[in-house]
Amino acid sequence: MTGVLLQVDDLAVEFDTPKGPLRAVRGVSFQVGEGETLAIVGESGSGKSVTAHTLMGLVPLRARIVSGRVTIEGRDVTGLSDKEWRELRGERIAMIFQDPLSALNPSLTVGYQIAEMFRRHRRLGRKESRRLAVGLMEQVGIPDAERRLDDHPHRFSGGMRQRVMIAIALALDPRLLIADEPTTALDVTVQAQILRLLRQRQRADRLGMIIISHDLGVVARAADRVAVMYAGRIVETGTVAEVYERPAHPYTLGLMRAVPTPRDGGAPLEAIDGQPPDLLAPPDGCAFHPRCPFARDKCREVDPEQHELGPRRASACHFAEEVMTGVHTGHG
Ligand SMILES: Nc1ncnc2c1ncn2[C@@H]1O[C@H](COP(=O)(O)OP(=O)(O)O)[C@@H](O)[C@H]1O
Ligand code: SF4
Ligand SMILES: [Mg+2]
Repeated sequence: MTGVLLQVDDLAVEFDTPKGPLRAVRGVSFQVGEGETLAIVGESGSGKSVTAHTLMGLVPLRARIVSGRVTIEGRDVTGLSDKEWRELRGERIAMIFQDPLSALNPSLTVGYQIAEMFRRHRRLGRKESRRLAVGLMEQVGIPDAERRLDDHPHRFSGGMRQRVMIAIALALDPRLLIADEPTTALDVTVQAQILRLLRQRQRADRLGMIIISHDLGVVARAADRVAVMYAGRIVETGTVAEVYERPAHPYTLGLMRAVPTPRDGGAPLEAIDGQPPDLLAPPDGCAFHPRCPFARDKCREVDPEQHELGPRRASACHFAEEVMTGVHTGHG
């Protein structure tokens, strides 16, 4: 891998709740290189958004980083002040939020909101900022950009709003882009367009990108590498090909079975039985054991470490090799 843009080491984030600490992110480590797209995949509640927000210096209210370190382009950003984050955010690392309607200001035109990036960070004048905003809107495929500049967000379709968010995120030429479930609310055709657009921008600018999804199918086409998240941990990593062809964690196997294929008419085959654990009191041993068809006694007692299965390929399952080779029968 060429230059490492983002390095996350053993990151843990907790919420203070009336019932005690809720461990939303429990020791997460990964890297993103220049020109590389990492997909973070997992069911709802697995800690994807809390991780993403923390990487952007937007640790949620009532949450705190309990341990670990985040390094962006070699700079430790874990303890930055709000002011330092405001300078970094948008410039070096930018994010496309899960819900563009709540991320955009409904009472300001989209042109104003895009141009604001140039006014605020580059101190450019109104005219120049608007000119650059039109250019960006064209780049992200918003038709009739010049005229649409003065429309408010509600005048745009879901897909077009997502493009506006992408334009804002790309305005200052960041090196790293995080897209948190950028296509969840969109229909399948528009999803494909948005993913294609992100991939094009990522390739053209050699961006490091993190694309977050609950759907393993969505990321297969959009990413180079995958990190599968469960209950605040990364349970499997590898290239897209490695993870799809030889999954090494039973949770990944479950997610793959839940991916709709065109032949099923787009309906999920079978979701994984059971619910993700209560993060106020995660189960002893492997957090996946109550739902795991492969679980044995050891799984209920010993929390599995990451097993290295190759270069940048790992699984946090006691029986990773067996899962990979399909030897494990699930009994015993
Ligand atoms: N404001 C909050 N207060 C308490 N717990 C929260 C809050 N936000 C998220 N959580 C908990 O943190 C965990 C991870 O949430 P999140 O990162 O949003 O999951 P994902 O994005 O993977 O769906 C969940 O168990 C969720 O219930
Ligand atoms: S460690 Fe055990 S319970 Fe956990 S995923 Fe592996 S087989 Fe399943
Ligand atoms: Mg989320």
